[in-house]
Amino acid sequence: MIRVASLDDLDAIMTLERLSFRADAWSEATMRADLASPHTWYVVAEEDERLIGYAGLRAPAGSKDADIQTIALDETARGRGLGRELFRTLLAEAARRRVREVFLDVRADNRPAQSLYSSEGFEAIGRRANYYPGEGVDAIVMKLDLTRWAAAEPSPKSDDRAIVGRSATDSPTTAAISDEAAEPAAGENPGGAA
Ligand SMILES: CC(C)(COP(=O)(O)OP(=O)(O)OC[C@H]1O[C@@H](n2cnc3c(N)ncnc32)[C@H](O)[C@@H]1OP(=O)(O)O)[C@@H](O)C(=O)NCCC(=O)NCCS
Repeated sequence: MIRVASLDDLDAIMTLERLSFRADAWSEATMRADLASPHTWYVVAEEDERLIGYAGLRAPAGSKDADIQTIALDETARGRGLGRELFRTLLAEAARRRVREVFLDVRADNRPAQSLYSSEGFEAIGRRANYYPGEGVDAIVMKLDLTRWAAAEPSPKSDDRAIVGRSATDSPTTAAISDEAAEPAAGENPGGAA
């Protein structure tokens, strides 16, 4: 199940954060602040009542730009489509907020993530030297034309699903994202990122 994150998820998120990003993991204070920010929107994936993934979007009200803040899955949950599902959930939320362009940074040596982002339409637009100082790795900056993303994909996306009890402007709240109750795509003409 994918649902909107809350501060109660902080400990489990930090466990995954440290395992996934090691020397470059965010501090707990940084993650707490981002989860609590009115400008972000985080989702988590749960399986057997265990948190196995999270992803966050920054999309300030009124801005046409958004950023993918982060995305990570437990190692055992990778490679079976969940990363793409979480990623698309963020993009769909950005689209609901009428975002036009989504940006992200990805490690230059992170092929799986780059492949995911490229396959959703992100393009490399720059490079930041030594952006991940923990291991001295560059970042590739990528950008998505979200309007094109929303228009291009005929298959069901996350925005075709009901997200119970959520509001585009509500920051962390607990709401379930369900495949069952389809809602009309509220902010149609979507588009958003990692
Ligand atoms: C990046 C990450 C979120 C992808 O999630 P995932 O569930 O493993 O990916 P999915 O199974 O949904 O696959 C989506 C796409 O990612 C790419 N991908 C996933 N695993 C890959 C691998 N081992 N090698 C190359 N590409 C891979 C492919 O493009 C894949 O599409 P395809 O199945 O059509 O080939 C996950 O691997 C992860 O948590 N990695 C560690 C944290 C991290 O690097 N986060 C990104 C920070 S920028």
